Amino acid sequence: MERLVGTTEREEDRVLETSLRPRTLDEYIGQDRVKDNLRIVIEAARARGEALDHVLLYGPPGLGKTTLAQIIATEMGVSLRITSGPAIERAGDLVSILTNLKAGDVLFIDEVHRLNRQVEEVLYSAMEDYAVDIIIGKGPSARSMRISLPRFTLVGATTRYALLSAPLRDRFGAIERLDFYDERAMLDIMRRSARILAVALDEAGAGELARRARGTPRVANRLLKRVRDYAQVRAGGAITHAVAREALARLAVDDLGLDESDRRVLLAIIDKFDGGPVGIATLAAATNEEVDAIMDVYEPYLIQLGFLQRTPRGRVATRRAYGHLHRPYTGAVAARAAEQTSFLDGPEFGSPGDDDPEDGRPREPR
Ligand SMILES: Nc1ncnc2c1ncn2[C@@H]1O[C@H](COP(=O)(O)OP(=O)(O)OP(=O)(O)O)[C@@H](O)[C@H]1O
Ligand SMILES: [Mg+2]
Repeated sequence: MERLVGTTEREEDRVLETSLRPRTLDEYIGQDRVKDNLRIVIEAARARGEALDHVLLYGPPGLGKTTLAQIIATEMGVSLRITSGPAIERAGDLVSILTNLKAGDVLFIDEVHRLNRQVEEVLYSAMEDYAVDIIIGKGPSARSMRISLPRFTLVGATTRYALLSAPLRDRFGAIERLDFYDERAMLDIMRRSARILAVALDEAGAGELARRARGTPRVANRLLKRVRDYAQVRAGGAITHAVAREALARLAVDDLGLDESDRRVLLAIIDKFDGGPVGIATLAAATNEEVDAIMDVYEPYLIQLGFLQRTPRGRVATRRAYGHLHRPYTGAVAARAAEQTSFLDGPEFGSPGDDDPEDGRPREPR
C-alpha cells in the first residue's frame, strides 16, 4: 500500500526534488552534531589537500543520507558517483567503477549492507590500500594482478547498521548516525520548503505540518505538497492551522503523524498478542507486512514516540500506545510489560553493537 507518511522514497518525492534538496552544509538544517563532525573532517582534508576519509551514514529512511553524500562531494569540490549495494552484482562491476574515479572523488554506495560477499571483499582492499587484486586468465595460467586506484572517498549509507559486517564497518574513518529531527528543525525545514515552493504557510500551519511529519524531511516535503494542493483547491491557496488540520484529517494522518498502517501494526500487538512480546516475523505475518518494512519504516518512529519497545523476546506495545489508540491498559498488561522491560538495558535500536536479536534473518557468517 502507498503510504502518505511512509518514509521510503516514492516517485512523487522526485518532483521538485532538485530545488528542495539542500546543496551545502549551511543549507542543511538540523543534525548539528553530524554537521559539526563533517565540517571538521572536510576542512582538515581540504587543508591537507587529501581525499576525505571514508564516511558511513546510517539511520532511518528519508532523514538525509543521500543529501549529505551530495553535500560532502560539493563541499570537497569533487565529483560524485552514485550506486547502491544491490546494483553492484559482480566484483568486476565494482572494479570498473573504482578505476574510473579521479583522485578525491566521492563514491556513494547506498544500501551498503546489501553488497554481496565477493564485491565486499574487493571493497576492503580498495578502501584500505587503494588497490584491488584481479585475476587474469583462466585455469593453470591464471595469475593475480594488483591495480592501484586513485585516492577516493567512499560514502556508504544504510538504514540497518546492525547488518553491516565488522570488517566493512572498521574501514570507515567516520561513522555518523542520523536521528529523527527535533521539532525546531522540522519547523525550519517546513518553512524553507514552503519558501522554495512559494506556498503561503502561516506559523500555526507550519507547526501543525511539522508535528505530523515524523521527524523526517522526506515526509515533511510530501505532506507540504499534498496540503498545498488541498489549500489551492479548497481554501484559496494559503495553509493556515485550520487548513492543515482539515487536509491532514482527510489524508488520514493523525496528530502524531501516524496513519492506518502504523495503527494496524500497533493494534495487532495489542489485540492479537495481548500487548506483546511478539516476534518480528510473527508480527509481520499478522499484519501482512514485510519484516524489512516493519524494521526500517514503522518501528523506528514508533520507538521514538515511545509507543513500542524492542525486548529480547519481541515487540511490546507501551502504555502510551494503548492511550493513543484508546485501548484500556489493564493491570495484567502492565505487569507483563514490566517483566519484559526489566531486560531492557541493551543498546538502543540501530546503534553500534546492536546485533538485531529480533531480525528474524541473521546475517550469514563470513
Ligand atoms: N537537513 C535537511 N534539510 C532540509 N531538507 C532535507 C534535509 N535532509 C533531507 N532533506 C530532504 O529530505 C528528502 C529525503 O532526503 P534523502 O533522500 O537524502 O534521505 P535518505 O536518508 O537518503 O533516505 P533513504 O534512506 O530512503 O535513501 C530530500 O527531499 C531532501 O531534500
Ligand atoms: Mg537515500
